[in-house]
Amino acid sequence: MKVLIIGSGGREHALAWKLSQSDVEQIVCVPGNGGTAALKRCENVPLAVDDFQGIGQCVQERQISLVVVGPELPLSLGISDYLRSQGIPVFGPTQAGAQIEASKSWAKELMQSAGVPTAAAQTFTDANAAKAYIRAQGVPVVVKADGLAAGKGVTVATTLAQAEAAVDAAFGGTFGLAGEKVLVEEYLTGQEVSVLVLTDGVSVQLLLPAQDHKRIGEGDTGANTGGMGAYAPVPLVTPALMDQIQREIIEPVVMALQQRGIDYRGVLYAGLMLTPKGGPKVIEFNCRFGDPETQVILPLLETPLEDLLLACAEQRLAQAPPIRWKTGVAACVVTAAQGYPGAYTKGQAISGIEQAEGLGVAVFQAGTKFRDQQLVTDGGRVLGVTAWGENFAQAIAEAYAAVEQIHYEGKYYRRDIGYRVRAGSATC
Ligand SMILES: Nc1ncnc2c1ncn2[C@@H]1O[C@H](COP(=O)(O)OP(=O)(O)O)[C@@H](O)[C@H]1O
Ligand SMILES: [Mg+2]
Repeated sequence: MKVLIIGSGGREHALAWKLSQSDVEQIVCVPGNGGTAALKRCENVPLAVDDFQGIGQCVQERQISLVVVGPELPLSLGISDYLRSQGIPVFGPTQAGAQIEASKSWAKELMQSAGVPTAAAQTFTDANAAKAYIRAQGVPVVVKADGLAAGKGVTVATTLAQAEAAVDAAFGGTFGLAGEKVLVEEYLTGQEVSVLVLTDGVSVQLLLPAQDHKRIGEGDTGANTGGMGAYAPVPLVTPALMDQIQREIIEPVVMALQQRGIDYRGVLYAGLMLTPKGGPKVIEFNCRFGDPETQVILPLLETPLEDLLLACAEQRLAQAPPIRWKTGVAACVVTAAQGYPGAYTKGQAISGIEQAEGLGVAVFQAGTKFRDQQLVTDGGRVLGVTAWGENFAQAIAEAYAAVEQIHYEGKYYRRDIGYRVRAGSATC
């Protein structure tokens, strides 16, 4: 079996890393990164993730048996439709299915029609109407640009001025087309968890629940980021709660997608708020693997990943046996560039990855590249250092010991990843 992975982040490195540990004959990453280039049986091909023709040609030439699409952008542009129309098995939803992430108003309507618990919201195409509604609702309130905004389109506003500024920013073109519509949403409290599901559009299999740390600062403070660390599983999410999430959220949504004639084969990622009184409510759906959640889920997977992905792509997940997991837990500490998520520098030489890996962890590369044979920083989130073990105290300590081995100018990381579970107690 030959697998082609589209994308170049830590998530794609983790996918390729997992596949490289099994019987997969060859892995091709488009465009991949310095980490994927170093994996056995893995090769990078320097094509853009939205170069459909180039990717299609690469798939035919190399007789690829499965394409796995990592990021949301090519999915929302219809890469799965394009490749599938050429008879290629693809893990990743169609353009219609990707709307569940690419349009928050579309997703909200889908959830409401399916009776799925989510924050109440109104959609606006006009700034004045949105502001009038906000004044009537009061704060705190959440303002969301409708489309893909690279994690920057959501404002949790605690003052009216903030909320109105967020409306103006969205309609003023800050997020491009993503801001042509704006949602004003009820503010929810509770803990956030990520439940990722594999689906072939009919059956579902839930992956282990994960929790990420979205904020830049310790104690979950400061600006939102792509994710500064994660861990799995989440003790707070009991098997009974997972069942409830499956019955009340996942299955109705998969059914609603089917009813709209959408052929959804890939990951359905539910970002949930565990509200103290109302149970789990959906904050958003993503149409792909989460980053950095994938980096902590995959090390715990026992079932060969390629079998699951191909079963989804070929729509025979119902015949696949239940997913098997290793015992234990995993934690990932992200190291970022100084200044992230604001302006940051690139091009700093990175050293110590081999020493870190020598401690038995996986160092997933995200914002890196090679310059004159030297690995250098090339993004805001640079590396994801993942360790796994019997308990959180051990896994987190190992991840931090490995982070200490890695050096580059301006290395920033949070020192409190997994603080809710660190003591090993299940008191999330
Ligand atoms: N209704 C809400 N109540 C409280 N916090 C929210 C709400 N919606 C979003 N948030 C916060 O904002 C973050 C980003 O929102 P989300 O809808 O996931 O957008 P995106 O990931 O596309 O930026 C969430 O992870 C959560 O912390
Ligand atoms: Mg989100």
